[in-house]
Amino acid sequence: MKTRICQAKDGIAEAVSLLEAGEPVALPTETVYGLAADALSPIACAKIFEAKGRPLCDPLIVHLPGNDWLERIAIPTPLAVALADAFWPGPLTLVLHRTALVPDLVTDGRDTVAVRQSAHPVFQEIVTAFGRPLAAPSANRFGRISPTTAHHVIAELEGRIPLIVDAGPCPHGIESTIVEVLEDRLRILRQGPVTADDLRAFAPLDDTPSGVSAPGGMKSHYAPHTRLLIEENPRPASDRHGLLAWSGNGKGFSHVERLSANGDLREAAANLYGAMRRLDAAGLELITAEPVPESGIGEAIMDRLRKASAR
Ligand code: TXA
Ligand code: MG
Repeated sequence: MKTRICQAKDGIAEAVSLLEAGEPVALPTETVYGLAADALSPIACAKIFEAKGRPLCDPLIVHLPGNDWLERIAIPTPLAVALADAFWPGPLTLVLHRTALVPDLVTDGRDTVAVRQSAHPVFQEIVTAFGRPLAAPSANRFGRISPTTAHHVIAELEGRIPLIVDAGPCPHGIESTIVEVLEDRLRILRQGPVTADDLRAFAPLDDTPSGVSAPGGMKSHYAPHTRLLIEENPRPASDRHGLLAWSGNGKGFSHVERLSANGDLREAAANLYGAMRRLDAAGLELITAEPVPESGIGEAIMDRLRKASAR
């Protein structure tokens, strides 16, 4: 299969007709590029798993065209509605009880479904024109780094999908926050752009481990091929030693990628995956990542670095 990249202004109609034909299409969201397909069609969703090499036990996020779809897909509690009102469209995914409309393949047969509404204008235009929810995991091969540009999607899925709609780099650059909505508490399953402090304003957080398993929550995920270690004040150890820099000057390292020139954690999140990909492509023996402050979105960055370093 030949994979084409279309600029957003030319690609929207074609993306919609491919989705209508039950094909998966890579689309930009405000977090990372997603591989989208008709969430209500098991056959279309099966093509997502196939293209990604993703195990069927890893359920998909359902992206809603609008709030009116929430009750058709999930059983929203008052707390869920308050969160949706506050953060949608945006980078927050809610895990809620599901309705019978959702195919078992999407949820791996669970009684819950993960739902969100993307704030990306191109994604919104496509899902609105399509008129039904889109299942969309990150558009990478299973276990690999999420794509934040159309070029990254090519590197992951060329020859496996028909179309990538290119709208430039994703603004957040890191996947949505996933929250399990419990009766009167919230449990964060994946850290992301909506932070723990943002969520605490709505309900207390439950720190006990979740009974549900989420492969994106597995210890080793988001992994570059090159070994990655996290270290404070690292020193170059060989002539093929790369640095993912936060505060150090990078002197003596053979390849340096700086997350942010002025210590901005949002900018660091947006740069993280592209920097990891460039380091991974540089033929290095080892990548060392300097830790970033664990506040705000820094928690999500450290979560991804720890997963990238777990082998
Ligand atoms: O920002 C994002 O969330 C991106 C964009 C494309 O929306 N999507 C994304 O999807 O990161 P994915 O599939 O790469 O990660 C979603 C995670 C997976 O780890 C999956 O296991 C978990 O969400 N998940 C999905 N449904 C779930 C459920 N019912 N209960 C618990 N975890 C669930
Ligand atoms: Mg993913």
